[in-house]
Amino acid sequence: MAARGGFSSRLGFIAAAAGSAVGLGNIWKFPFEVGDGGGAAFVVIYLLFCFILCFPVMVTEVAIGRKTQKNAVGAFNALGFKRWNVVGKLGILSGVIILSFYNVVAGWAFGYFIEMVLGHFDIGQRFGEFTADFIKVGAYSILFMLATSYIVSRGVSGGIEKASKILMPALILMILSLVVYSFTLPNAMAGVEFYLVPDFSKINLAVISGALRQSFFSLSLGMGALITYGSYLSKKENIVSSSALITLADVGMAFLAGLMIFPFVAFNSGGDMSNASGGAGLIFVNLPGVFETLGGAGVVIGSLFFLLLSFAALTSTVSLLEVPVSYVVDEYKMKRSKATMIVAFIIFLIGIPSLLANGASDLFGRFVTYFNANSPTDFMTFAGHIADTFLVLGGSLIVIFAAYVWKTKNLEQELSEGYSGFSNSFVKKYLRFTISYLSPVLLILLFVLVVLSNFFGINIG
Ligand code: PHE
Repeated sequence: MAARGGFSSRLGFIAAAAGSAVGLGNIWKFPFEVGDGGGAAFVVIYLLFCFILCFPVMVTEVAIGRKTQKNAVGAFNALGFKRWNVVGKLGILSGVIILSFYNVVAGWAFGYFIEMVLGHFDIGQRFGEFTADFIKVGAYSILFMLATSYIVSRGVSGGIEKASKILMPALILMILSLVVYSFTLPNAMAGVEFYLVPDFSKINLAVISGALRQSFFSLSLGMGALITYGSYLSKKENIVSSSALITLADVGMAFLAGLMIFPFVAFNSGGDMSNASGGAGLIFVNLPGVFETLGGAGVVIGSLFFLLLSFAALTSTVSLLEVPVSYVVDEYKMKRSKATMIVAFIIFLIGIPSLLANGASDLFGRFVTYFNANSPTDFMTFAGHIADTFLVLGGSLIVIFAAYVWKTKNLEQELSEGYSGFSNSFVKKYLRFTISYLSPVLLILLFVLVVLSNFFGINIG
């Protein structure tokens, strides 16, 4: 364990894993998925998925990681099921795809920090122009990839843990204050209503599949990120309660981000929520104008917001890069610093089409048209859909593996380490039921529906 490095404390693991979970997925992606998915009905389904389907997957991933103390691929080998390491490989592929576009959006967040420092509050109206400037955004993304690589090359307990412990609480405070402010603005209640009062007639397969993909993405599940982080966790820690805390922190942050954004959207639109589906631009278009209303303080608060958002993104990009890097380090015995450099460079290259997909190139901006769709989807959104879908598949396979190949009793044995009352607990029964039956069945079913809905435009119901 010492040779691979480990988290120095339980809080360190929780902070790092929550740092992985909390990121652009909560503050950028969640609100726009809610907007596109019609509002509160999406939120309700998302919450159900997180707690019922995803939480057991998280517990399983952490347990596999801690048991084997290996990366996402090596873990399956170490348990003696070499064939199943394709699940880890699929995870690595998902991580690579996610990081390739995530890094571009992180570049936007960092660029907005600079724009706020310069007092450019009109950047919200110029969002399209901003993202089309691929030289500038490209430079920000390179900076971001370098920062991520620096932390990953220093190893887990040195870099990741320290950064997360300070930055997460700062971000929570920031968002809480902005929620309070958002409620004081005119028309705020129209936004709150859109966000919190569900109209269940809006639920269709596209909404359900969006919520499912979002819950996996947001909790960093299905690609072995938590197998990898779990591999650095000590046997003394309670996996179940740590996972519960991480889930709560992540869902809580997404929920708060929505509570902050939608009143702002309503304020900007004079209470009209019909165009809340702003897509990837939702927060970038809507926030700067709101910071402007704060007068002089707006520069400080706006800059701080985008700086903290960039840091939240950084603790996530670190976990995304850590998955392929720890694989290369463990399995190919490469030096961590060298592995980091090579992997980061390749991922940056894979991200170039995403960089060009937001205004710079028509080819990537109008990349594919799904069956039955009216308009084409850009490359970045497409890459996102593919990766999210892989996460759902990966997550399903991980629980199926744990329950039926590795076997529930071995999983339970690992969970009882650091959790003395586990064997007689209700939690044990609940997890056994969800991991053996509920999650595999529902996940596979939903996975098929997600593929049909996303890529073939077939919506049942
Ligand atoms: N969960 C991160 C976010 O919400 C993104 C992520 C996905 C990180 C998968 C790691 C693995 O921003």
